[in-house]
Parts: sequence; C-alpha cells; structure tokens
Amino acid sequence: MGESALADQLERIRSGFIDTPVIPLDHERLDLFAKTEYCNLNGSVKDRSAYVMLQRAVQRGELTADSTVVESSSGNLAISLAALCRLLGIPFVPVIDQNVNAPTEMLLRATCDRVEKVTERDGTGGYLRTRLDRVTTLTETLENTFWPNQYSNPDAADAHYLLTGAEICRTFDRLDYIFVGVGTAATIAGVSRRIHEYLPQTKVIAVDSAGSAIFGQQARTRHIPGIGSSIRPPLLDQAEIDDVVIVEEHESVVACRRLLTRFGLFCGGSTGSVYAAIERYFASYRGPRLSVLFLCADRGIAYTNTVYQQGWLERVRNPTSSRGESGTEQ
Ligand SMILES: Cc1ncc(COP(=O)(O)O)c(C=O)c1O
Repeated sequence: MGESALADQLERIRSGFIDTPVIPLDHERLDLFAKTEYCNLNGSVKDRSAYVMLQRAVQRGELTADSTVVESSSGNLAISLAALCRLLGIPFVPVIDQNVNAPTEMLLRATCDRVEKVTERDGTGGYLRTRLDRVTTLTETLENTFWPNQYSNPDAADAHYLLTGAEICRTFDRLDYIFVGVGTAATIAGVSRRIHEYLPQTKVIAVDSAGSAIFGQQARTRHIPGIGSSIRPPLLDQAEIDDVVIVEEHESVVACRRLLTRFGLFCGGSTGSVYAAIERYFASYRGPRLSVLFLCADRGIAYTNTVYQQGWLERVRNPTSSRGESGTEQ
C-alpha cells in the first residue's frame, strides 16, 4: 500500500467509527450517564488514540507502507493498534509483559506475527521500564520503525479532543460533572479541553488508583490495568482537572460487581474505580439532582478471571500464594 492508499484506508476505517452510546442509569440521587467506550470497534476507548496517532503519523510521513509499528502496551492500546495495523497492511510488534491477561495475549498472538513479552521486572517491581527498554532495542534493530509512544504523544490526547470530547459536547447541553479514569492521561487531557471550551462549568474529576504515582503518591504494587501509573504521564500537563479521587482496588472490585448487578453494565476494572469514585464523591450529597457522566473504558469480559472472580484480589495480594502480578501499566 502506498502513502495515499494508506491515507484512503484510514478514511475508510474512520467511516466505520460510531458515536459510542450514552446510557442513562436509574440512580436515586443523580442523573447518571455511562458513555460506553467498550462499543468502539476493538472494544475500548483506546481505538480513538490508536487511530489518531497512526493517522497523524501518516500525514507527517513518519509512518509509511514499509514501516513496522512498535509499542509498549499490555492491554487495550495494543489490541487497537494490532487491528488497525492489520487493516493498513503494516506489521505491529506489541511489547507486553507477564501481567497481560490471557484473552488479550491470545488475541495479540492471533493478530500479530511477532509479539515481544518481557519477563524481568524493573527497579519499581513492575515491568514498564523493561518494556520501554525492549521498545528501544526494537527501534534500534528493526528497519523503519514507528513508535507511537502513547505516554507522551500529544496526538493521543487530541484524539479525545476531536472524537470522545466532541461526541460528549454533541450529546449534552448541560453537564455538572464528568469522571474520567487516568492511565496515560490522554483521555482526560483531550476530553477536559474540549468540554471546558463548550461547557466551562462542567467539573472534570480525575480518578486514579491508590498506589499510582500520577498525582504524587508513592508508587506501589497495583493489580487493576488501565488506570494508574508508576510515572507521572507527561500528557497530564494538558489536562484541565477540577478535582482528583483516589480509589482503593478493593473498592473498584466491589463497584464493578455493583455496576453489573445494579445497572447491567459489564465493565473492566478501571470503570469500577470510576463508579466507586462517583458513589464516594456524592455519598452525602442531598441537593438538587446533578448530571454526572462517566466513561466505561472497556468491557468486563477480559476480567472474568480477575476482577469478577471471588477472592481474586486477596489471592494476588498474598505474596505467598502469588508472584508476578505487580506493577500493572498500560
Ligand atoms: C481500561 C482502561 N481504563 C482507563 C484507561 C485510561 O486512559 P488513558 O490512558 O487515556 O488515561 C485506559 C487506557 O488504556 C484503559 O485501557
């Protein structure tokens, strides 16, 4: 595929994107809405970042038909890049680690000809740095590589300004609060900028995991992927955040099950964190009904053996029964 054919193919892919449904939930005190990002083609909010990072790279001539895309991700971004690169006819090498969940690894191995899995922990006890080292080695040894670098690529944040944020602004004339989970901070950076342009009164609440370094806590072992980080992501500088809520993992697990049994929403662990944050934030609020939106970053199916399994968190937290579950990063 030549360069203009790549651009044409990206246009065709774009025409298959949908505005993800916004579902009103029957809540006793809030006008609560869930934006179902798991309805994106590849199952998560990361379709948006992946698409715009590739599109802009093609426009700039950094990604060409003979490139190989390399990225560190143990989750949703890798799934999105794998699918998009297949459609573009470009090889993609995901760099994953021991914490990848089984369905994701199987999907990546089915889609990509080469998958790099790191097994050594870095100095923080996680794998992020080891994965980034492997990316560097790949970019030095393979010909014509393109590394989107989701942690600091402003195109990832622009994706949520142009797509996710624009959709929210088309859906709501008024919104009191939006709650967004933070990993690389791409989503909150783009969404908050767009919302504050159109609905300046809307409060943007960032949700992070206990033990994540994003908002200055000491980094420690975490188990729920997508949300939290052992570094402060550079894209956070672009985000317009009104308040931050830190959620313990056991709260996220309980909240995931509650979303399912109460509202029929089967979401991933980070969405549980966001819902737990909402319930805590408004626990003693008794004023007029407020409109509150949250994003469901992905679906629960990949978490059936973890978050949705009775006793999972206790098992992974008990070091005598489990090694190899720490430092979960995007
Ligand atoms: C499941 C899940 N939740 C939350 C996020 C946070 O998004 P961001 O990396 O844009 O901060 C991600 C990102 O991949 C995710 O996969």
